[in-house]
Amino acid sequence: MNEKKRPKAVIVGGSIAGVSCAHSLILAGWDVAVLEKSCAPPTGSPTGAGLGLDPLARTLIGTWIKSHQLLHNTTLPLTFDQNQATDGEKKVSWTVTRDEKFNFRAAYWADLHDLLYNALPPNIFLWGHLFSSFSVCNDKKAVKVKAKVLQTEEIVDVVGDLLVAADGCLSSIRRSFLPDLKLRYAGYCAWRGVLDFSENENSDTIVSIRKAYPDLGRCLYFDLGSSTHIGLYELQRKNLNWIWYINQPEPELKKNSVTMKVTDDMIQKMHQEAEKIWDPALARVIKETKEPFINVIYDSDPLQQLYWDNVVLVGDAAHPTTPHGLRSTNMSLLDAAVLGACLDKWGREKLESALEEYQSIRLPVVAKQALHSRRMGRLKQGLVLETGKTFDLKTANSEDCEELQQKNMPYFADAPLPVGSRYACSTP
Ligand SMILES: Cc1cc2nc3c(=O)[nH]c(=O)nc-3n(C[C@H](O)[C@H](O)[C@H](O)COP(=O)(O)OP(=O)(O)OC[C@H]3O[C@@H](n4cnc5c(N)ncnc54)[C@H](O)[C@@H]3O)c2cc1C
Ligand SMILES: *[C@@H]1O[C@H](CO)[C@@H](O)[C@H](O)[C@H]1NC(C)=O
Ligand SMILES: *[C@@H]1O[C@H](CO)[C@@H](O)[C@H](O)[C@H]1NC(C)=O
Repeated sequence: MNEKKRPKAVIVGGSIAGVSCAHSLILAGWDVAVLEKSCAPPTGSPTGAGLGLDPLARTLIGTWIKSHQLLHNTTLPLTFDQNQATDGEKKVSWTVTRDEKFNFRAAYWADLHDLLYNALPPNIFLWGHLFSSFSVCNDKKAVKVKAKVLQTEEIVDVVGDLLVAADGCLSSIRRSFLPDLKLRYAGYCAWRGVLDFSENENSDTIVSIRKAYPDLGRCLYFDLGSSTHIGLYELQRKNLNWIWYINQPEPELKKNSVTMKVTDDMIQKMHQEAEKIWDPALARVIKETKEPFINVIYDSDPLQQLYWDNVVLVGDAAHPTTPHGLRSTNMSLLDAAVLGACLDKWGREKLESALEEYQSIRLPVVAKQALHSRRMGRLKQGLVLETGKTFDLKTANSEDCEELQQKNMPYFADAPLPVGSRYACSTP
């Protein structure tokens, strides 16, 4: 009898926010169905690149996958957060700031997704299901979702008590409520890639990059050039992750994606630029990276609300953000944990109170963090700030430089969780 009474959520999007919500809602006693347009789990393929996880993020993941050790083994430490500057002409670098108590860890996107996905019960994922529309029915007590099964072109209905939009920064569910919301182009794109050096650990390139960046394997490096910057850190299984931001006019995006196809010609030009701007060892890492790609960087001004009736936004759908604060994953995980805790606390009968509390806890945090990340990006790219000033290493004093550090992120170590929930407060 109890089985029948379990409330059900339909989650659209099976990336980090979607799998995390699946975990937290199951813990809250909900049934879930996850609709994902990709046809299969991304397992095994070199999907995505690196991301940073703070201590609470790791606690939550460890709880969901029931092994802190496994997550630990899959990640590498980012104990230091270091900003340095490079003079491309003279090929010299110097340290600008160094925080030795950073305590993040670095994961490969695909590895993290794998861990979270494999720890879910079987049969809750509907792969190859493209969400197309939804309608709220039964006095706002139910929601009916229509999706197209990509393999057969068949249209199916999935009905639940709650629709969770985890469909990313270009969310079509968000668009149905906010048709006029436009993402803001950051003013720059990012070239990124991962160099797999498992076959040649002792190559000249690897030996020289370790010499130039001696704390690789435990440090989040940012290198600042003139109106450009690059992030560099190591990932498990002998991989180097880099992400290089370049100011340019907004490119035209062909598909519904913020990742851009690149031509050999573009790659060659990028390699030439790298030689001019960065340390020779770093330029070599960039040149030896197979299949680098471009992310066009967007965010949005903070939303005013995160739910409408029984439809709620989580992850990038709720707060498109630039990557400078290493927040996207963190925010997605915490959205999921808070949503689960609120649903657990209020029960299905008080769904609106649960969503209201979720919104009131998350909105102030994600709004401040996204705006802070925007500012960090503009600072490091030498773009004009709200004050009309620009950050310039040549004239910056030490106080200006302090601003470059990750630890200045609002709510850096104390984002709130709902009061009085059963399982949300398992902080280390
Ligand atoms: C393949 C992939 C690789 C990534 N790699 C990295 C990385 O290396 N480093 C990093 O920092 N961030 C990466 N990200 C982004 C990162 O996951 C997000 O920034 C953050 O974790 C928030 O995730 P999200 O789940 O809210 O959104 P997203 O990760 O954007 O996921 C949205 C999901 O919704 C699905 N979806 C969208 N529309 C529909 C629809 N109509 N029907 C069904 N499904 C739909 C998409 O296929 C996608 O799986 C990656 C995202 C993806 C999808
Ligand atoms: C996310 O970051 C906030 C600080 O910004 C931190 O308080 C919180 O513990 C982190 N949460 C997760 C789930 O990582
Ligand atoms: C993690 O790594 C350690 C050391 O290599 C190993 O002993 C342990 O079994 C691993 N644990 C898991 C859960 O993978």
